[in-house]
Amino acid sequence: MIKIHAEHLITPMGSSPKKGNEMRKLFETFDTDIIIDKGKILDIKKHKSHDDYTIEAKLVTPALIDAHTHIPFYGKRAREFYLRARGKSYSEIFEQGGGIHNSVKMIRNASIDEIVKQNIDYLKIFKRNGICAIEGKSGYGLEKINELKQLKSITVLNEIQDIKIIPTFLGLHAIPLEENKNEYIKKVESWLEDIKKFTNTIDVFCDKGVFLPDDIKELFESAKNKGFKIRFHADEIENVGATKFAVKIGAVSADHLLKIGDEEIELLSNSNTIATLMPGTSFYLGEPFANARKLIDNGAAIALGSDFNPGSCPIFTPSFIMHLALRFLKMEPEEILTAYTLNSAYVLDIENGKIEPGYKCDIALWNTNEFLDIPYMFDQNFLKGIIINGKVTMY
Ligand code: NIG
Ligand code: FE
Repeated sequence: MIKIHAEHLITPMGSSPKKGNEMRKLFETFDTDIIIDKGKILDIKKHKSHDDYTIEAKLVTPALIDAHTHIPFYGKRAREFYLRARGKSYSEIFEQGGGIHNSVKMIRNASIDEIVKQNIDYLKIFKRNGICAIEGKSGYGLEKINELKQLKSITVLNEIQDIKIIPTFLGLHAIPLEENKNEYIKKVESWLEDIKKFTNTIDVFCDKGVFLPDDIKELFESAKNKGFKIRFHADEIENVGATKFAVKIGAVSADHLLKIGDEEIELLSNSNTIATLMPGTSFYLGEPFANARKLIDNGAAIALGSDFNPGSCPIFTPSFIMHLALRFLKMEPEEILTAYTLNSAYVLDIENGKIEPGYKCDIALWNTNEFLDIPYMFDQNFLKGIIINGKVTMY
């Protein structure tokens, strides 16, 4: 049994996802004891006495959940950062056979051991910053054996460290240089039975120069029939109708959404497809930010993620992502906390993201009373400790 004395506790509570104004309604209390047993919240009550098993914290929130990363990748792409800083665009580098294709070469040449070794270091930093769970994707193999290699690396990573990685199959991340698009899509469809042994979620880079809604319609309907949940990289580079298709097919999330308009905002607001936003990518690529304000004001649900990957967002520190969300997505602090906890948990289908009696919860303990300090002084690490699956780590 663990007892936390929280000077200040803030958490979303109740049903998920939280949509629109509901994202701002948090449960907040002061001078409170939180009792946890086997990773489950037993009770939340007025603080009475200090005893030997009390952990002291200025601020307690649910541990954070990053709803969209490209872990595990192999190698890095610093040269592309340099080229972009000197004027080349992300799309130009990709069209010339670089970008994602560079990561594909590196994954194909790496062993599971090598992939695990590189990515475990990132996971330690995620945890040190208050994150208990992330999404991870394949998508740098682009052939069956190497897509499976990435998914197997996730299995190994889940066995040897604390952060839970929820895997997604992103075989449709790019058209492999050696393949024709339609033939590749057919191949991907034939892999689904084997992929299903590792994940029940499928994603696609549905955008200009990659896969268009018409290309993937059949495959996605077949994946849906096989029980896959659907996610989308939607309308990041250009509006190609990806968001519309994502809502129509009942995707759990439509991600990025940099180029959507009012019609898509309306569709998302009237659906249970979560608008998953990654302001780190807009910042890093110098692209516009998604219209989070209009999405929330119209009633949509937002989740936040880093999009951590070696090409379009080598950033994953949540305090910095929160800084960008507050400043450029115009999100309120309460909305940011809900998006980084309960709504992200909904996207990943895990029972986390709220501190509520009877529920499983991973918890972050912070060294400041004010949640707003975290996005404000984003390069300070305010994390004091984290409880994942009942295991306490204090820093
Ligand atoms: O989410 N948009 C497509 N995929 C990634 C980028 C991957 C890469 O460049 O390696 C993204 O931005
Ligand atoms: Fe992504």
